[in-house]
Amino acid sequence: MKIGLIGAGHIGSTLAHLCTAAGDDVVIANSRGPETLHELELDLDGHARAGTVEQAARFGDIVVVAVPFGHYQDLPAAPLDGKTVIDACNYYPQRDGHVADLDDDRVTSSELMQRHLAGAHVVKAFNAMRWDHLREYGHSSGAYLRYGIPVSADDQDAKRQVFDLVEQLGYEPVDAGNLAEGGRKHQPGTQVYTADLWADDLRDRIGVEA
Ligand SMILES: NC(=O)c1ccc[n+]([C@@H]2O[C@H](COP(=O)([O-])OP(=O)(O)OC[C@H]3O[C@@H](n4cnc5c(N)ncnc54)[C@H](OP(=O)(O)O)[C@@H]3O)[C@@H](O)[C@H]2O)c1
Repeated sequence: MKIGLIGAGHIGSTLAHLCTAAGDDVVIANSRGPETLHELELDLDGHARAGTVEQAARFGDIVVVAVPFGHYQDLPAAPLDGKTVIDACNYYPQRDGHVADLDDDRVTSSELMQRHLAGAHVVKAFNAMRWDHLREYGHSSGAYLRYGIPVSADDQDAKRQVFDLVEQLGYEPVDAGNLAEGGRKHQPGTQVYTADLWADDLRDRIGVEA
């Protein structure tokens, strides 16, 4: 798969490692420019290229956004038109600044990203496990017992595409619903957030059947 990564910090670089190990082609970007990502490229043994945000957005069949949520409006909408965009971000008002609609729970952060990227298919995933656990826990427990990754989306094709990626990285995707309902089930403050659950336990806690 061709994966674009926007954000090259804890989560972005972790996904770069996991995706390149799985054989995916990766272009990764940060806010300061590709020349600042040389060390990460070396660390990835040349299996991923650094690019601009625009290049990462255009490159990926799937594009992952892993930036502090407060920056989501910087994302370029045009190159993401028609693409599957994974929203791995979480809203932390003390870091991101207060957003009244989120504070009052009138909307989810992924729905706001979807509004900004109107032509893309936003899928919330990889937001609910700490980066250092995400790096280690895939494939860690054999074929029959896997850690669950909650996935929410409005578009079913995009959701299935992300299910395949989650499986490829050694996790079991758990369908949490759409961006409004599902998004609320695995955002910060919920009982599954950073709880590192086996897929069956995750399904139980968010109330979905296998
Ligand atoms: N850390 C975790 O365990 C974890 C787990 C799940 C989800 N998350 C969520 O994932 C997101 C990223 O977290 P993180 O811990 O990976 O953050 P981080 O280590 O601080 O990295 C943030 C990355 O985003 C880039 N960035 C910031 N603004 C940008 C912009 N406008 N355009 C392009 N890139 C931009 C930064 O680039 P520069 O350095 O060049 O500015 C940096 O590479 C957050 O929303 C967080 O809540 C984090």
